[in-house]
Amino acid sequence: MTQPDAARGRFWFDVTPDVSKSDQKLDPPEVPQVSDVPVSTLFYGDNLDVLRKYIKDETIDLCYIDPPFNSNKNYNRIYNRIGKEDAAQAQAFVDTWTWNGLADAGYVEILGNADGRFSSQTVELIKGLQAVLKKGGLLAYLISMTLRVTEIRRALKPTGSFYLHCDQTASHYLKLVLDSIFVAQGGDFLNEIDWCYKSGGASKRHFSRKHDVIFLYVKSAEQYKFNYQQEKSYNRGMKPYHFKGVEEFKDEIGWYTMVGMKDYWNIDMVGRTSAERLGYPTQKPEKLLERIIEASSDKGDVVLDAYCGCGTTIAVAQRLGREWIGIDITYQAISLILHRLEGKPGNLAWPEIEKSIKLNGIPRDIESAQALALKKDDRVRKEFEKWAVLTYTNNRAVINEKKGADRGIDGIAYFMATRDDNAKVVLQIKSGHVTRGDIAKLRGDMTREGATLAVFITLEEPTAPMKAEAKDAGSYVHALMGRSYDVIQIVTVQEILDGRRLEIPMTLEVSKRAKTSASKSKQTSLLDEGREAANDGDEGGDD
Ligand SMILES: C[S@@+](CC[C@H](N)C(=O)[O-])C[C@H]1O[C@@H](n2cnc3c(N)ncnc32)[C@H](O)[C@@H]1O
Repeated sequence: MTQPDAARGRFWFDVTPDVSKSDQKLDPPEVPQVSDVPVSTLFYGDNLDVLRKYIKDETIDLCYIDPPFNSNKNYNRIYNRIGKEDAAQAQAFVDTWTWNGLADAGYVEILGNADGRFSSQTVELIKGLQAVLKKGGLLAYLISMTLRVTEIRRALKPTGSFYLHCDQTASHYLKLVLDSIFVAQGGDFLNEIDWCYKSGGASKRHFSRKHDVIFLYVKSAEQYKFNYQQEKSYNRGMKPYHFKGVEEFKDEIGWYTMVGMKDYWNIDMVGRTSAERLGYPTQKPEKLLERIIEASSDKGDVVLDAYCGCGTTIAVAQRLGREWIGIDITYQAISLILHRLEGKPGNLAWPEIEKSIKLNGIPRDIESAQALALKKDDRVRKEFEKWAVLTYTNNRAVINEKKGADRGIDGIAYFMATRDDNAKVVLQIKSGHVTRGDIAKLRGDMTREGATLAVFITLEEPTAPMKAEAKDAGSYVHALMGRSYDVIQIVTVQEILDGRRLEIPMTLEVSKRAKTSASKSKQTSLLDEGREAANDGDEGGDD
């Protein structure tokens, strides 16, 4: 069942059910097919649940994954502290692995092989690794990967390919796992691609580590799809060879021939000054994904990224005319992907693309918002706050990751106050009982943070004294827009679900507006103007 959000024309879809409930409806909701625009889906949730519940057998042409692993950790420490991790690290879900209940359940599931999901080689391998590695972070990571890659293999078409992005920290263990899943069941290992780059730190105690590893496996050794790729190979001395039957070319560097693409790829990382940069720490370059997608899929094929981060795979798949499915466990990633697709320079197709994207797992009623707020899972702590802040600001705010006990700010957004100066909006979310004191405290936090406006988002209905305290903070007159705003806005989660959004123009929007339409009506949707601005050819970033 779909419900159009009238205010923005965006479709919101049924929330992905709580993973602990097994009796949920399994079929994804239907969406209207928009001609010439691939119908694609962003799932918000744990990829194991999404893969098992929504991704049918033999439906995916290509899957690329770039799962998190704490590569910056000292290798010796990972291997030698097996089973002795610092329990305090367990709270950081993103990149740290510890042996916990999830790992234990996965281990039991693989060894028991009740549904016959796993090959006998996989079962024996995990059993053997447990004897060597013991129950620690490394084995927890390998179990997590085994469960997920098993589902990915199931979902691949017989012609399908799988790319796993990792590095030297665990690549040797992962290759064993992948062999047991693919090669043991009629598939094959095709390549270990070394993605070489220059950026990052170096050490004088060992050779500089300047490559990642990408394994390429196929589901069927006989039927797989591979589009032959070529690259330039410069002649020695950059001079022509004049070999018989060999076609030679010349560019500004010198003479070259075209050869089959090799398995080491020199592609720059997304650097600080790169136009692609979105600020997502593990963002991969689009060129890397272009090669993968072009080699292992055709136009119209379905590309899956089950750890899609800020959506590099998705953006490239979209640009190359593939259908795509993205899954990520954090709302920040989902929000960034929407922002990324929307903000593509010259992306006139965005309104059509937006209509065609299925969003799954995003709260669309108060019960699912409450369920998100109450999640105890360490891996998704704070997801409710992130969803509320990013949705209310239309994906424009920055999440305050450093929030401490005494610092109540969950998100920060900026807007243009004058043509030359910006101002700050702070956002705070409460999922429990709220009182007038919360608003009084927010007034204090606002002053401390030097913010001009504050937004208080609450799951519970605000009381009359809370509203009075907020009114008491007064109003702010936005000279450029010629209208005033309450200095403290109280917004309920129900209102966000109903489509209410922060109605203040962000940096990009207001500068565009100031240039082009000083006389537009105050009633015009400022968010729609933002979209026009993005479609005019500017980058979407505005903060
Ligand atoms: C290394 S990043 C991927 C970066 C991505 N390749 C890009 O270019 O932006 C890994 C992502 O996996 C997500 N993730 C971690 N565990 C997950 C899970 N169990 N299910 C879905 N996503 C997960 C994280 O939130 C993170 O965004």
